[in-house]
Amino acid sequence: MGTKASVNRSWHLKSRPVGALKDSDFELRDSPLPPIGKGQLLIRTVYLSLDPTHRLWTREKASYMPSVKLGDVMRGFIMGVVEQSNNEAFPQGCVVTAILGWSLYNVSDGGVADGSMISKVEMDPRLPLIARFGLFEHIGLTSYFGVIDILRPRPRETLVVSGAAGAVGSLAVQIGKIYAGCRVVGVAGTDDKCRWLTGELGADAAVNYRKGPLAESLRKACPDGIDTFFDNVGGECLEAVLDQINMNARIAMCGAISQYGNDEKPYGPPNIYNLLMKRARIEGFIVLDYAADKRWWAKAHDDITNWHLQGRLKYRIDVVKGIENAAKAVTKLFEGTNTGKLVVQLSEEPARN
Ligand SMILES: NC(=O)c1ccc[n+]([C@@H]2O[C@H](COP(=O)([O-])OP(=O)(O)OC[C@H]3O[C@@H](n4cnc5c(N)ncnc54)[C@H](OP(=O)(O)O)[C@@H]3O)[C@@H](O)[C@H]2O)c1
Repeated sequence: MGTKASVNRSWHLKSRPVGALKDSDFELRDSPLPPIGKGQLLIRTVYLSLDPTHRLWTREKASYMPSVKLGDVMRGFIMGVVEQSNNEAFPQGCVVTAILGWSLYNVSDGGVADGSMISKVEMDPRLPLIARFGLFEHIGLTSYFGVIDILRPRPRETLVVSGAAGAVGSLAVQIGKIYAGCRVVGVAGTDDKCRWLTGELGADAAVNYRKGPLAESLRKACPDGIDTFFDNVGGECLEAVLDQINMNARIAMCGAISQYGNDEKPYGPPNIYNLLMKRARIEGFIVLDYAADKRWWAKAHDDITNWHLQGRLKYRIDVVKGIENAAKAVTKLFEGTNTGKLVVQLSEEPARN
């Protein structure tokens, strides 16, 4: 892993995945370092965020974003340093986040027409650079708005979080406690993850969905029923929760990772009509939509920063080093072998004063 490369190196989408993502769906290719034109900048990638949404972007049908074309460089959330710039808004040396390629280097037009949603990172001297992906961006902001705006929990209500030991889920667990003092129950795939949730993260209970019938374990962990559900998983987990919701329950549909590999016919819970019986609400949301509300976005940053600095909001990063390991690493999300935020480090962080 070096900071300077004479050639660019990128992962391209080789085949449409069948089922979960596999490393063989991608191909690593070298190309000359791209020159920059008027208004453009060259970004050296420091961190590449690996996300379940990559599975949605690689299918034929568009999701909330267009799908990546076969042969194209794979799209991802990156954090990097501007190495060369013909764009005053992004001077050389500044750190940016953007939706660009799984590449050592990316050229951007500053977000004018490239759809990169590029933004300059205000470096908070109290936080390490990687906290950007651990606590903010499409991770912490998703947990924040999902809990606070979609679920609107009230004190002492029971909040269940699926995918609870993952990047978004682990923050949602803690925000449920901090924001409303909920009784929080996490659902995760190993005993170690469950222990992390009830130990370090302060969940009231945690359920290993791979051990025994989930419905039964949830019933034990939620003796007063379920008022709010932050769902990252969908499928059978959603079904088990739907059977146990209370009157006026709220469900935030943040993700459905258990169904991302089911392109033909994703599993829809047969008991969905229980929403009707319980006058309950289910609402999908995409965090990127919140970015337009600058004041609320800034408040979310302030709240998250303060909670973290007060020691009440913790995050964990799962770092894989080297671009050559990115395609293998993304499979961890579907095998459940990551804990916390999965990132690949492609080059060294810039020095900080
Ligand atoms: N709506 C939005 O704007 C938005 C933004 C970001 C992310 N998301 C969504 O939020 C969810 C979590 O994303 P993340 O980045 O935080 O990923 P993550 O939770 O860090 O990683 C994925 C985790 O999902 C679990 N998982 C994988 N396959 C599963 C299955 N078949 N059944 C149950 N659990 C399974 C695994 O944990 P276990 O060991 O527990 O199985 C795995 O560690 C995803 O659905 C993602 O698409 C939505």
